[in-house]
Amino acid sequence: MTSYKTDGTVGPWAKEKLKILESYLDAYTKVLLNQGWCAGTIFIDAFAGAGRAPLRISDKNERRSTQLLFDVSSGVYDDKDELTYVNGSPRVALGLKHTFDHYFFIEQNSDRAIELQKLKEKYSSHKNINVLQDDANEAIKGGILGKGLFNWKSFRGIAFLDPFGMQLRWDTLEALASTEAIEIIINLPVGTTLQRLLPKSGQFSETKRQQLDEYFGSPDWYDVIYEKTPGLFGDEINKSENSGKRLALWYRSRLKELFGLSSPASLIRNSRGGHLYYLIWAGHHPKGLEIASHVLSQGEVIK
Ligand SMILES: C[S@@+](CC[C@H](N)C(=O)[O-])C[C@H]1O[C@@H](n2cnc3c(N)ncnc32)[C@H](O)[C@@H]1O
Repeated sequence: MTSYKTDGTVGPWAKEKLKILESYLDAYTKVLLNQGWCAGTIFIDAFAGAGRAPLRISDKNERRSTQLLFDVSSGVYDDKDELTYVNGSPRVALGLKHTFDHYFFIEQNSDRAIELQKLKEKYSSHKNINVLQDDANEAIKGGILGKGLFNWKSFRGIAFLDPFGMQLRWDTLEALASTEAIEIIINLPVGTTLQRLLPKSGQFSETKRQQLDEYFGSPDWYDVIYEKTPGLFGDEINKSENSGKRLALWYRSRLKELFGLSSPASLIRNSRGGHLYYLIWAGHHPKGLEIASHVLSQGEVIK
């Protein structure tokens, strides 16, 4: 289970993710505000959702504790709706004190893209908002980076990469990193999403392996997760006890190789303590790392 279900509802733990995003974007836009060399700022929300989502609350106790936990003033919750809706990443980014100059909201689902169009109309006087109903990988590489819209010597940007599962390809990260101007905050769904795809047996069809290779950008994920021990009838393959953590550490080091810098990985759990996903920042600038390390270290991190 991710914090964002396919039916469009979110679990209470989504607030942690959105609070981290809001804190980082707030600091980022403030830092770039008075930089004379900076021609403009860009926010890419590659898996944008509908802009707001109904909160999934299973029982009364959870509702009560959620109400106590949430900081209504943060803007993540819309209190007019009696705490039933959570403002998603597009609204968080549009509601910042210092806004971005260009927004790209990418969403493959047509109903959610329509909601984003409405959001664009609501903020029409605001800034340059683009809603792209497309696959995130295609929209980033073709629609945004491929068209040479921005001179990356003087523009700066952030891409928020928050898929349900393995929809983000590694070559999209390579394209973002190649600008040397775009930072990322990425959701690595090591919880149920990835674990479900990684059976204890270590047996994969060719297609599955290829999918995972494209996602991780390397076949080495196999040796990170599976351990070989010699047995009577040849090597025995076992899934490592702490495969989620190992995967997060390895993936983080790959992001560092690609972008130059990467933050500690912040673990987001569900209300029963189960691991859902890690949030990781990667980018080129030490100031970005400083802010991200501070923001992400408010929760539970692996370094
Ligand atoms: C976890 S939700 C996003 C939540 C949102 N970032 C937020 O915090 O409010 C993931 C979204 O990605 C969309 N999606 C799934 N696959 C996609 C793809 N290949 N390209 C673009 N969007 C996709 C889903 O329809 C869903 O709305």
